[in-house]
Amino acid sequence: MDKIIVRGGTPLSGTIPISGAKNATLPALAATLLTDQSVHLSNIPHLLDVTTMLELLGQHGSAITVDERLGVEIDNCQINNFLAPYDLVSTMRASILVMGPLLARYGHADVSLPGGCAIGSRPVNLHIEGLRAMGADITLSGGFIHARAKRLHGARIHMDPVTVTGTENLLMAATLAKGRTFLENAAKEPEVVDLANFLTKMGARIQGAGTSTIIIDGVDTLHGTRHRIMPDRIETATFMIAAAVTGGDVILTGTSGEFLALPIRKLQEAGLILEDDPSRESMRVRCSGRLQGVNLETAPYPGFPTDVQAQMLVLNCIAEGASSITENIFENRFMHVSELQRLGADIQILGNVAHVRGLSKLHGAPVMATDLRASASLVLAGLAAEGETVISRIYHIDRGYERIEEKLLALGANIQRVSG
Ligand code: UD1
Repeated sequence: MDKIIVRGGTPLSGTIPISGAKNATLPALAATLLTDQSVHLSNIPHLLDVTTMLELLGQHGSAITVDERLGVEIDNCQINNFLAPYDLVSTMRASILVMGPLLARYGHADVSLPGGCAIGSRPVNLHIEGLRAMGADITLSGGFIHARAKRLHGARIHMDPVTVTGTENLLMAATLAKGRTFLENAAKEPEVVDLANFLTKMGARIQGAGTSTIIIDGVDTLHGTRHRIMPDRIETATFMIAAAVTGGDVILTGTSGEFLALPIRKLQEAGLILEDDPSRESMRVRCSGRLQGVNLETAPYPGFPTDVQAQMLVLNCIAEGASSITENIFENRFMHVSELQRLGADIQILGNVAHVRGLSKLHGAPVMATDLRASASLVLAGLAAEGETVISRIYHIDRGYERIEEKLLALGANIQRVSG
Protein backbone atom coordinates (compact mmCIF):
# COMPACT_ATOMS: atom_id res chain seq x y z
CA MET A 1 0.00 0.00 0.00
CA ASP A 2 1.33 3.44 -0.93
CA LYS A 3 2.69 5.86 1.66
CA ILE A 4 3.52 9.54 1.52
CA ILE A 5 6.76 10.70 3.10
CA VAL A 6 7.02 14.40 3.93
CA ARG A 7 10.00 16.31 5.31
CA GLY A 8 8.63 19.53 6.73
CA GLY A 9 9.98 23.01 7.06
CA THR A 10 10.05 24.28 3.45
CA PRO A 11 7.90 27.35 2.76
CA LEU A 12 5.79 26.54 -0.30
CA SER A 13 6.18 28.85 -3.25
CA GLY A 14 5.06 28.94 -6.87
CA THR A 15 1.89 28.53 -8.90
CA ILE A 16 -0.48 25.59 -8.83
CA PRO A 17 -3.69 24.81 -10.76
CA ILE A 18 -6.80 23.90 -8.79
CA SER A 19 -8.85 21.00 -10.18
CA GLY A 20 -12.56 20.74 -10.86
CA ALA A 21 -14.71 20.04 -7.79
CA LYS A 22 -15.12 16.40 -6.78
CA ASN A 23 -18.42 17.15 -5.07
CA ALA A 24 -19.81 18.82 -8.20
CA THR A 25 -18.49 16.14 -10.55
CA LEU A 26 -20.10 13.17 -8.79
CA PRO A 27 -23.71 14.46 -8.96
CA ALA A 28 -23.16 15.74 -12.52
CA LEU A 29 -22.02 12.28 -13.63
CA ALA A 30 -25.08 10.72 -11.98
CA ALA A 31 -27.32 13.35 -13.62
CA THR A 32 -26.27 12.19 -17.08
CA LEU A 33 -28.52 9.16 -16.43
CA LEU A 34 -31.50 11.51 -16.82
CA THR A 35 -31.13 11.72 -20.61
CA ASP A 36 -30.47 9.29 -23.45
CA GLN A 37 -28.63 12.00 -25.36
CA SER A 38 -24.91 12.51 -25.22
CA VAL A 39 -23.54 14.83 -22.50
CA HIS A 40 -20.05 16.37 -22.31
CA LEU A 41 -18.53 17.36 -18.97
CA SER A 42 -15.22 19.22 -18.72
CA ASN A 43 -12.83 20.17 -15.90
CA ILE A 44 -13.27 16.69 -14.44
CA PRO A 45 -10.72 15.97 -11.69
CA HIS A 46 -8.66 12.81 -11.98
CA LEU A 47 -9.67 11.14 -8.71
CA LEU A 48 -10.46 7.71 -7.36
CA ASP A 49 -14.05 8.74 -6.48
CA VAL A 50 -14.60 9.92 -10.06
CA THR A 51 -13.26 6.62 -11.39
CA THR A 52 -15.63 4.78 -9.04
CA MET A 53 -18.61 6.80 -10.32
CA LEU A 54 -17.56 6.15 -13.94
CA GLU A 55 -17.26 2.44 -13.14
CA LEU A 56 -20.76 2.50 -11.67
CA LEU A 57 -22.16 4.27 -14.76
CA GLY A 58 -20.36 1.72 -16.92
CA GLN A 59 -22.12 -1.08 -15.03
CA HIS A 60 -25.49 0.61 -15.68
CA GLY A 61 -24.67 0.57 -19.40
CA SER A 62 -23.26 4.07 -20.04
CA ALA A 63 -20.87 4.48 -22.96
CA ILE A 64 -18.05 6.69 -21.66
CA THR A 65 -15.28 8.37 -23.62
CA VAL A 66 -12.59 10.15 -21.65
CA ASP A 67 -10.55 12.72 -23.59
CA GLU A 68 -7.08 14.02 -22.81
CA ARG A 69 -8.30 17.41 -21.69
CA LEU A 70 -10.13 16.44 -18.51
CA GLY A 71 -13.38 15.90 -20.38
CA VAL A 72 -15.81 13.00 -20.53
CA GLU A 73 -18.51 12.28 -23.06
CA ILE A 74 -21.29 10.08 -21.73
CA ASP A 75 -23.94 8.40 -23.79
CA ASN A 76 -26.73 6.75 -21.84
CA CYS A 77 -28.95 5.46 -24.62
CA GLN A 78 -28.43 1.84 -23.59
CA ILE A 79 -28.94 1.72 -19.84
CA ASN A 80 -29.86 -1.87 -18.98
CA ASN A 81 -28.80 -2.46 -15.37
CA PHE A 82 -30.29 -0.63 -12.39
CA LEU A 83 -28.15 -2.08 -9.63
CA ALA A 84 -25.56 -0.12 -7.62
CA PRO A 85 -23.62 -2.96 -5.95
CA TYR A 86 -22.24 -3.07 -2.42
CA ASP A 87 -18.57 -3.14 -3.47
CA LEU A 88 -18.87 0.26 -5.18
CA VAL A 89 -21.31 1.95 -2.77
CA SER A 90 -19.26 0.87 0.23
CA THR A 91 -16.11 2.46 -1.21
CA MET A 92 -17.97 5.65 -2.14
CA ARG A 93 -21.16 6.72 -0.42
CA ALA A 94 -21.90 9.26 -3.15
CA SER A 95 -22.85 6.26 -5.36
CA ILE A 96 -26.29 6.77 -3.81
CA LEU A 97 -26.62 9.71 -6.23
CA VAL A 98 -27.61 7.33 -9.04
CA MET A 99 -30.81 6.40 -7.16
CA GLY A 100 -32.84 9.56 -7.98
CA PRO A 101 -31.93 9.66 -11.70
CA LEU A 102 -32.44 5.90 -12.28
CA LEU A 103 -35.79 5.96 -10.54
CA ALA A 104 -36.99 9.12 -12.28
CA ARG A 105 -36.04 7.96 -15.75
CA TYR A 106 -36.39 4.17 -15.62
CA GLY A 107 -38.71 3.67 -12.63
CA HIS A 108 -36.26 1.20 -11.16
CA ALA A 109 -33.22 1.40 -8.84
CA ASP A 110 -31.58 -1.14 -6.52
CA VAL A 111 -28.89 0.62 -4.53
CA SER A 112 -26.82 -0.95 -1.78
CA LEU A 113 -27.17 0.72 1.62
CA PRO A 114 -23.90 2.60 2.19
CA GLY A 115 -23.43 1.44 5.81
CA GLY A 116 -21.20 3.18 8.33
CA CYS A 117 -18.08 5.14 7.54
CA ALA A 118 -15.15 6.62 9.36
CA ILE A 119 -16.86 9.93 10.08
CA GLY A 120 -20.10 8.69 11.57
CA SER A 121 -23.25 6.75 10.80
CA ARG A 122 -24.33 9.02 7.90
CA PRO A 123 -27.87 7.74 7.25
CA VAL A 124 -29.70 8.16 3.92
CA ASN A 125 -33.23 8.27 5.37
CA LEU A 126 -33.94 11.69 3.86
CA HIS A 127 -33.13 10.46 0.35
CA ILE A 128 -35.57 7.59 0.86
CA GLU A 129 -38.33 9.63 2.51
CA GLY A 130 -38.13 12.29 -0.20
CA LEU A 131 -38.46 9.75 -3.01
CA ARG A 132 -41.36 8.10 -1.17
CA ALA A 133 -43.09 11.48 -0.95
CA MET A 134 -42.71 11.66 -4.74
CA GLY A 135 -44.60 8.38 -5.09
CA ALA A 136 -41.80 5.82 -5.09
CA ASP A 137 -42.40 2.40 -3.61
CA ILE A 138 -39.27 1.69 -1.56
CA THR A 139 -38.38 -1.41 0.41
CA LEU A 140 -35.18 -2.25 2.26
CA SER A 141 -33.98 -5.83 2.17
CA GLY A 142 -30.75 -7.77 1.96
CA GLY A 143 -28.76 -4.58 2.56
CA PHE A 144 -30.30 -2.91 -0.50
CA ILE A 145 -32.71 -0.06 -1.17
CA HIS A 146 -35.20 -1.35 -3.75
CA ALA A 147 -37.03 1.59 -5.34
CA ARG A 148 -39.79 1.41 -7.94
CA ALA A 149 -42.08 4.03 -9.48
CA LYS A 150 -44.25 4.30 -12.59
CA ARG A 151 -43.67 8.03 -12.79
CA LEU A 152 -42.62 10.16 -9.83
CA HIS A 153 -44.87 13.08 -8.98
CA GLY A 154 -44.16 16.49 -7.49
CA ALA A 155 -44.23 16.87 -3.70
CA ARG A 156 -43.41 19.27 -0.89
CA ILE A 157 -40.37 17.83 0.89
CA HIS A 158 -38.75 19.20 4.03
CA MET A 159 -35.27 17.91 4.80
CA ASP A 160 -33.94 18.08 8.34
CA PRO A 161 -30.98 18.18 8.83
CA VAL A 162 -29.78 19.91 5.70
CA THR A 163 -28.29 17.26 3.41
CA VAL A 164 -26.13 17.96 0.37
CA THR A 165 -26.39 14.69 -1.56
CA GLY A 166 -29.99 14.29 -0.32
CA THR A 167 -30.89 17.63 -1.92
CA GLU A 168 -29.04 16.64 -5.10
CA ASN A 169 -30.71 13.23 -5.36
CA LEU A 170 -34.19 14.69 -4.93
CA LEU A 171 -33.44 17.63 -7.23
CA MET A 172 -32.41 15.24 -10.01
CA ALA A 173 -35.44 13.01 -9.43
CA ALA A 174 -37.82 15.99 -9.48
CA THR A 175 -36.64 17.21 -12.89
CA LEU A 176 -38.53 14.34 -14.57
CA ALA A 177 -41.42 14.06 -12.06
CA LYS A 178 -44.95 15.02 -13.01
CA GLY A 179 -45.77 18.43 -11.54
CA ARG A 180 -44.06 20.76 -9.11
CA THR A 181 -41.66 19.78 -6.30
CA PHE A 182 -40.65 22.03 -3.40
CA LEU A 183 -37.40 21.09 -1.67
CA GLU A 184 -37.44 22.89 1.67
CA ASN A 185 -34.46 23.38 3.96
CA ALA A 186 -32.43 22.49 0.87
CA ALA A 187 -28.62 22.55 0.90
CA LYS A 188 -27.26 25.85 -0.43
CA GLU A 189 -23.81 24.50 -1.27
CA PRO A 190 -22.29 25.90 -4.50
CA GLU A 191 -22.06 22.32 -5.81
CA VAL A 192 -25.88 22.08 -5.61
CA VAL A 193 -26.07 25.26 -7.68
CA ASP A 194 -23.56 23.85 -10.18
CA LEU A 195 -25.75 20.76 -10.53
CA ALA A 196 -28.89 22.89 -10.97
CA ASN A 197 -27.14 24.94 -13.68
CA PHE A 198 -26.17 21.74 -15.47
CA LEU A 199 -29.70 20.31 -15.21
CA THR A 200 -31.14 23.60 -16.49
CA LYS A 201 -28.87 23.33 -19.54
CA MET A 202 -30.35 19.84 -20.05
CA GLY A 203 -33.82 21.40 -20.14
CA ALA A 204 -34.85 21.15 -16.47
CA ARG A 205 -37.03 23.88 -14.92
CA ILE A 206 -35.50 24.86 -11.58
CA GLN A 207 -35.83 27.97 -9.44
CA GLY A 208 -34.18 28.89 -6.16
CA ALA A 209 -31.00 26.77 -6.27
CA GLY A 210 -28.61 28.28 -3.74
CA THR A 211 -31.49 29.26 -1.42
CA SER A 212 -33.23 27.10 1.16
CA THR A 213 -36.24 26.42 -1.09
CA ILE A 214 -35.74 24.90 -4.53
CA ILE A 215 -38.77 24.67 -6.80
CA ILE A 216 -38.68 22.21 -9.68
CA ASP A 217 -41.31 21.88 -12.40
CA GLY A 218 -40.94 18.42 -13.87
CA VAL A 219 -40.55 17.97 -17.63
CA ASP A 220 -41.06 14.87 -19.80
CA THR A 221 -37.52 14.55 -21.10
CA LEU A 222 -34.09 16.14 -20.73
CA HIS A 223 -31.56 16.52 -23.51
CA GLY A 224 -27.81 16.44 -24.03
CA THR A 225 -25.55 19.43 -23.33
CA ARG A 226 -22.03 20.50 -22.36
CA HIS A 227 -21.03 21.66 -18.91
CA ARG A 228 -17.82 22.78 -17.22
CA ILE A 229 -17.47 21.67 -13.60
CA MET A 230 -16.80 24.45 -11.06
CA PRO A 231 -13.40 24.68 -9.28
CA ASP A 232 -12.88 22.66 -6.11
CA ARG A 233 -13.33 25.04 -3.17
CA ILE A 234 -12.15 22.41 -0.68
CA GLU A 235 -8.90 21.79 -2.58
CA THR A 236 -8.51 25.57 -2.86
CA ALA A 237 -8.87 25.99 0.91
CA THR A 238 -6.50 23.07 1.55
CA PHE A 239 -3.73 24.69 -0.53
CA MET A 240 -4.38 28.06 1.12
CA ILE A 241 -3.82 26.40 4.49
CA ALA A 242 -0.73 24.63 3.11
CA ALA A 243 0.69 28.06 2.22
CA ALA A 244 -0.23 29.36 5.68
CA VAL A 245 1.28 26.53 7.74
CA THR A 246 4.57 26.60 5.82
CA GLY A 247 4.89 30.42 5.79
CA GLY A 248 4.69 30.22 2.00
CA ASP A 249 3.73 32.38 -0.97
CA VAL A 250 1.54 30.55 -3.47
CA ILE A 251 -0.58 31.45 -6.49
CA LEU A 252 -3.63 29.25 -7.05
CA THR A 253 -5.05 29.29 -10.57
CA GLY A 254 -8.37 28.15 -12.04
CA THR A 255 -10.17 29.09 -8.84
CA SER A 256 -11.34 32.05 -6.78
CA GLY A 257 -12.43 32.96 -3.29
CA GLU A 258 -16.06 33.32 -4.41
CA PHE A 259 -17.36 30.36 -2.42
CA LEU A 260 -14.90 30.57 0.46
CA ALA A 261 -15.94 33.78 2.20
CA LEU A 262 -15.90 32.38 5.73
CA PRO A 263 -12.75 30.22 5.46
CA ILE A 264 -10.98 33.21 3.92
CA ARG A 265 -12.12 35.45 6.78
CA LYS A 266 -10.82 32.92 9.28
CA LEU A 267 -7.52 32.53 7.43
CA GLN A 268 -7.08 36.30 7.32
CA GLU A 269 -7.82 36.41 11.06
CA ALA A 270 -5.06 33.81 11.45
CA GLY A 271 -2.61 36.00 9.51
CA LEU A 272 -2.83 34.89 5.87
CA ILE A 273 -2.56 37.66 3.26
CA LEU A 274 -4.76 37.14 0.26
CA GLU A 275 -5.00 38.80 -3.15
CA ASP A 276 -7.94 37.47 -5.13
CA ASP A 277 -8.16 38.28 -8.83
CA PRO A 278 -11.49 36.76 -9.93
CA SER A 279 -11.14 38.24 -13.45
CA ARG A 280 -8.07 36.01 -13.96
CA GLU A 281 -9.32 33.13 -11.86
CA SER A 282 -6.27 33.30 -9.65
CA MET A 283 -5.45 33.95 -6.03
CA ARG A 284 -2.17 34.75 -4.29
CA VAL A 285 -1.88 33.62 -0.69
CA ARG A 286 1.09 34.28 1.55
CA CYS A 287 2.06 34.37 5.14
CA SER A 288 5.19 35.41 6.96
CA GLY A 289 4.77 36.02 10.70
CA ARG A 290 3.49 33.58 13.34
CA LEU A 291 -0.09 32.45 12.77
CA GLN A 292 -2.81 33.16 15.33
CA GLY A 293 -5.20 30.41 16.43
CA VAL A 294 -8.83 30.99 15.43
CA ASN A 295 -12.12 29.72 16.82
CA LEU A 296 -14.68 28.32 14.44
CA GLU A 297 -17.58 25.94 14.11
CA THR A 298 -18.64 23.96 11.08
CA ALA A 299 -22.08 24.52 9.55
CA PRO A 300 -23.87 23.98 6.24
CA TYR A 301 -22.97 26.50 3.52
CA PRO A 302 -22.40 29.45 3.81
CA GLY A 303 -21.04 28.35 7.20
CA PHE A 304 -17.54 26.96 7.70
CA PRO A 305 -17.24 23.69 5.67
CA THR A 306 -16.78 20.51 7.66
CA ASP A 307 -14.50 19.37 4.81
CA VAL A 308 -11.96 22.06 5.82
CA GLN A 309 -12.17 21.44 9.57
CA ALA A 310 -9.28 18.95 9.83
CA GLN A 311 -6.93 21.17 7.80
CA MET A 312 -7.79 24.22 9.92
CA LEU A 313 -7.13 22.23 13.08
CA VAL A 314 -3.54 21.73 11.88
CA LEU A 315 -3.16 25.47 11.47
CA ASN A 316 -4.39 26.02 15.03
CA CYS A 317 -1.91 23.41 16.31
CA ILE A 318 1.06 25.53 15.24
CA ALA A 319 -0.52 28.95 15.79
CA GLU A 320 -0.15 31.22 18.76
CA GLY A 321 -2.70 30.93 21.54
CA ALA A 322 -5.57 28.70 22.56
CA SER A 323 -8.41 28.05 20.14
CA SER A 324 -11.38 25.79 19.63
CA ILE A 325 -13.04 24.09 16.69
CA THR A 326 -16.60 22.76 16.96
CA GLU A 327 -17.77 20.05 14.54
CA ASN A 328 -21.53 20.33 14.05
CA ILE A 329 -22.11 18.24 10.91
CA PHE A 330 -20.64 14.81 11.56
CA GLU A 331 -20.57 13.00 14.88
CA ASN A 332 -17.17 11.36 14.60
CA ARG A 333 -15.02 13.68 12.57
CA PHE A 334 -12.01 14.04 14.86
CA MET A 335 -10.27 10.80 13.86
CA HIS A 336 -7.25 12.83 12.77
CA VAL A 337 -6.74 14.19 16.29
CA SER A 338 -5.00 11.15 17.71
CA GLU A 339 -2.69 11.13 14.68
CA LEU A 340 -1.90 14.84 15.10
CA GLN A 341 -1.14 14.13 18.76
CA ARG A 342 1.52 11.70 17.54
CA LEU A 343 3.22 14.72 15.96
CA GLY A 344 3.10 16.42 19.35
CA ALA A 345 -0.06 18.52 18.87
CA ASP A 346 -1.77 19.70 22.06
CA ILE A 347 -5.45 18.96 21.41
CA GLN A 348 -8.19 17.95 23.81
CA ILE A 349 -11.55 16.70 22.59
CA LEU A 350 -14.60 17.47 24.71
CA GLY A 351 -17.80 16.27 23.00
CA ASN A 352 -17.80 17.80 19.54
CA VAL A 353 -15.23 20.48 20.37
CA ALA A 354 -11.47 20.28 19.79
CA HIS A 355 -9.58 22.57 22.18
CA VAL A 356 -6.10 23.39 20.95
CA ARG A 357 -3.09 25.00 22.56
CA GLY A 358 -0.84 26.22 19.80
CA LEU A 359 2.81 25.10 19.84
CA SER A 360 5.71 26.58 17.96
CA LYS A 361 6.53 23.21 16.36
CA LEU A 362 5.21 19.78 15.49
CA HIS A 363 7.62 16.85 15.11
CA GLY A 364 7.48 14.27 12.33
CA ALA A 365 6.23 10.73 13.10
CA PRO A 366 4.54 7.79 11.36
CA VAL A 367 0.78 8.39 11.11
CA MET A 368 -2.21 6.75 9.48
CA ALA A 369 -4.87 8.37 7.29
CA THR A 370 -8.44 7.57 8.32
CA ASP A 371 -10.64 9.47 5.89
CA LEU A 372 -10.28 11.82 2.98
CA ARG A 373 -10.00 15.21 4.65
CA ALA A 374 -8.18 13.77 7.68
CA SER A 375 -5.52 12.53 5.27
CA ALA A 376 -5.10 16.02 3.83
CA SER A 377 -4.66 17.38 7.33
CA LEU A 378 -1.86 14.88 8.00
CA VAL A 379 -0.04 15.97 4.84
CA LEU A 380 -0.37 19.60 5.95
CA ALA A 381 0.88 18.71 9.41
CA GLY A 382 3.84 16.89 7.84
CA LEU A 383 4.67 19.97 5.75
CA ALA A 384 4.68 22.11 8.89
CA ALA A 385 6.49 19.63 11.17
CA GLU A 386 10.19 19.32 11.85
CA GLY A 387 11.65 16.06 10.49
CA GLU A 388 10.00 13.21 8.64
CA THR A 389 6.33 12.25 8.65
CA VAL A 390 5.28 8.98 7.01
CA ILE A 391 1.57 8.80 6.20
CA SER A 392 0.15 5.36 5.48
CA ARG A 393 -3.26 4.35 4.07
CA ILE A 394 -3.12 7.26 1.71
CA TYR A 395 -5.61 5.72 -0.71
CA HIS A 396 -8.10 7.92 1.14
CA ILE A 397 -6.38 11.02 -0.16
CA ASP A 398 -6.52 9.81 -3.78
CA ARG A 399 -10.30 9.75 -3.48
CA GLY A 400 -10.46 13.53 -3.32
CA TYR A 401 -7.14 15.19 -4.17
CA GLU A 402 -5.67 15.06 -7.65
CA ARG A 403 -1.93 14.31 -7.60
CA ILE A 404 -1.51 16.04 -4.25
CA GLU A 405 2.14 15.09 -3.85
CA GLU A 406 2.96 16.24 -7.40
CA LYS A 407 1.28 19.58 -6.83
CA LEU A 408 3.08 20.07 -3.52
CA LEU A 409 6.39 18.98 -5.07
CA ALA A 410 5.91 21.65 -7.73
CA LEU A 411 5.59 24.17 -4.90
CA GLY A 412 8.94 23.08 -3.46
CA ALA A 413 7.74 20.67 -0.79
CA ASN A 414 9.97 17.77 0.19
CA ILE A 415 7.41 15.04 -0.41
CA GLN A 416 7.35 11.65 -2.10
CA ARG A 417 5.02 8.72 -2.60
CA VAL A 418 6.44 5.27 -2.05
CA SER A 419 4.76 1.95 -2.67
CA GLY A 420 4.72 -0.95 -0.31
C1 UD1 B 1 -21.66 15.92 1.35
C2 UD1 B 1 -20.27 15.98 0.76
C3 UD1 B 1 -19.23 15.84 1.88
C4 UD1 B 1 -19.48 16.86 2.97
C5 UD1 B 1 -20.94 16.85 3.43
C6 UD1 B 1 -21.27 17.99 4.38
C7 UD1 B 1 -20.54 15.06 -1.45
C8 UD1 B 1 -20.29 13.93 -2.38
N1 UD1 B 1 -20.13 14.89 -0.18
O1 UD1 B 1 -21.81 14.63 1.97
O2 UD1 B 1 -17.94 16.01 1.30
O3 UD1 B 1 -18.64 16.59 4.07
O4 UD1 B 1 -21.83 16.95 2.30
O5 UD1 B 1 -20.99 19.20 3.79
O6 UD1 B 1 -21.05 16.10 -1.84
N2 UD1 B 1 -28.15 13.12 7.20
C9 UD1 B 1 -29.25 12.47 7.72
N3 UD1 B 1 -30.08 11.80 6.86
C10 UD1 B 1 -29.85 11.75 5.50
C11 UD1 B 1 -28.74 12.41 4.99
C12 UD1 B 1 -27.90 13.10 5.85
O7 UD1 B 1 -29.48 12.49 8.92
O8 UD1 B 1 -30.64 11.12 4.78
C13 UD1 B 1 -27.22 13.86 8.11
C14 UD1 B 1 -25.80 13.29 8.10
O9 UD1 B 1 -25.67 12.20 8.99
C15 UD1 B 1 -24.99 14.48 8.51
C16 UD1 B 1 -25.77 15.65 7.89
O10 UD1 B 1 -27.04 15.16 7.58
O11 UD1 B 1 -25.00 14.63 9.92
C17 UD1 B 1 -25.15 16.21 6.63
O12 UD1 B 1 -24.85 15.15 5.75
P1 UD1 B 1 -24.94 15.33 4.17
O13 UD1 B 1 -25.03 16.78 3.81
O14 UD1 B 1 -26.00 14.42 3.64
O15 UD1 B 1 -23.54 14.78 3.70
P2 UD1 B 1 -23.27 14.09 2.32
O16 UD1 B 1 -24.23 14.62 1.32
O17 UD1 B 1 -23.14 12.62 2.51
